[in-house]
Amino acid sequence: MSDLMERWETPGFGVSNLKKVTRSRPVPGYGEILIRVEAVSLNYRDTEVLESRMYLEPEFPFTPASDMFGTVIETGEGVTRFAVGDQAVSMCITNWIDGEALDWSVAPPLGGTIPGILAQYVVLPADWCVHAPKSLTAIEASTLPIAALTAWMAVCELAPSRSDQTVLIQGTGGVSLFAAQFGLAAGANVIVTTSSDQKAEQLRKLGVKADNIIDRSITPDWPAAVMELTDGRGADNIVEVVGGENIRKSLDAVRQGGRIALIGFMESYDMSMSILPVLGKRVTIEGISVGPRRAMEDMIRAIDRHKIKPVIDRVYDFDEVPAAFQHLNSGPFGKVVIKVAS
Ligand SMILES: NC(=O)c1ccc[n+]([C@@H]2O[C@H](COP(=O)([O-])OP(=O)(O)OC[C@H]3O[C@@H](n4cnc5c(N)ncnc54)[C@H](OP(=O)(O)O)[C@@H]3O)[C@@H](O)[C@H]2O)c1
Repeated sequence: MSDLMERWETPGFGVSNLKKVTRSRPVPGYGEILIRVEAVSLNYRDTEVLESRMYLEPEFPFTPASDMFGTVIETGEGVTRFAVGDQAVSMCITNWIDGEALDWSVAPPLGGTIPGILAQYVVLPADWCVHAPKSLTAIEASTLPIAALTAWMAVCELAPSRSDQTVLIQGTGGVSLFAAQFGLAAGANVIVTTSSDQKAEQLRKLGVKADNIIDRSITPDWPAAVMELTDGRGADNIVEVVGGENIRKSLDAVRQGGRIALIGFMESYDMSMSILPVLGKRVTIEGISVGPRRAMEDMIRAIDRHKIKPVIDRVYDFDEVPAAFQHLNSGPFGKVVIKVAS
C-alpha cells in the first residue's frame, strides 16, 4: 500500500478554492484508527462553513465534510472498540458520547472547526466513530452522521413520534427526508411541504400519503393547509429547517402545546417572529445541533430493524467534488454523496 493518498483541501475560505492534493497517508496514534474511506456525504452546512457564513474559524489548510463510511485498516495502541476490517461511520460532533451536550471547545465539529474527512484515508479517534449498519451500502451509510441523526433527535429522541401525532416536515432535503422516514416508521401522521410536482411524486413513492403533501408553489399558505389536514388542531411537532420569517408560519401551523424543532437556516440565520403565538400556544421551541454517539447507535439499530433506506439524490466520483457541491446548492431530493473508493 502506498504511503501517499489524495485529499481535498483549501488554504482559505471558498468552495472554489478546494483542490485535490497528494499527502502522506496518516498514521494512527494512541486510541486512533486508520480508515480507508469509501463514501462521503455532503451537507448544506459544508458549503456554509467553506463560504464563511457560519462564523466558524476552521484550521487551514482545511478539508471539508464530516460524514463518511469506511473500513478500518489499522488500529493504534489502546483501541478496543474497533478491529481491522470493521466498517465505521464517523460522528460529526466529536467527543459527545451521551448525556448533556458539550461546549464546542471540547467537542469540536468535524469539518467545522477542525478539518474533515474528504480524503482517501483518515485517522480518527476510535471514540469519534460508530459501527456501520448491517443493512446499508457504503454510499447509504455515509449519509447518517449529520442528516439522519439530526432528524432522529427531532422526531424520535427528543420528542418521540406517536401514531396519534402529526409531524410536519419542511422540504425534501437530507434532514427532512430522514425525518419523514422516521416519522412514518413510528406510525405518525406525516405531512411534508415541497416545491414541485416531481418531488411530490417522489414523496408518494417514499410512502407519504398524497393528501399530506403540500406543494408550497401552489399553496403558499401551507400553515392553513396543515390546519385543514389536522381538523383545526395543528401539527404536534414541526421540523423547522428554514429560519428567517418561516418561523412565523411554523408557529401558525403548530398545535396548542406543540413543539418546533429548530434545525436549519436555509432562508436566514436570523429568526423573526412575534412572541405572542409562542406564549398563547405554549409552544416549545428546541434548538437541535446533531446528536451524541449513543443516539447514533440507537438510530442505527432502528435503521437495521425497520430496513430504512436513505434517499440518495446523486452520487459523484472523488474527482467531481466541485460538481457535487454545485448540486448540493441546487435543492437536492435527499443526499448528495461522493464515492471515494469501492
Ligand atoms: N442543527 C443541526 O444539527 C442541523 C443538522 C443538519 C442540517 N441543518 C440545517 O438544516 C437545513 C437543511 O439541511 P439539509 O442538509 O437537509 O439541506 P438540503 O439537503 O440542502 O435541503 C435542500 C432542500 O430544502 C428544501 N428547501 C429549500 N428552501 C426551502 C424553504 N424556503 N422552505 C422549505 N424547504 C426549503 C428544498 O426542498 P423542497 O424543494 O422539497 O422544498 C431543498 O431540496 C440547513 O440549513 C442545514 O444547515 C442543521
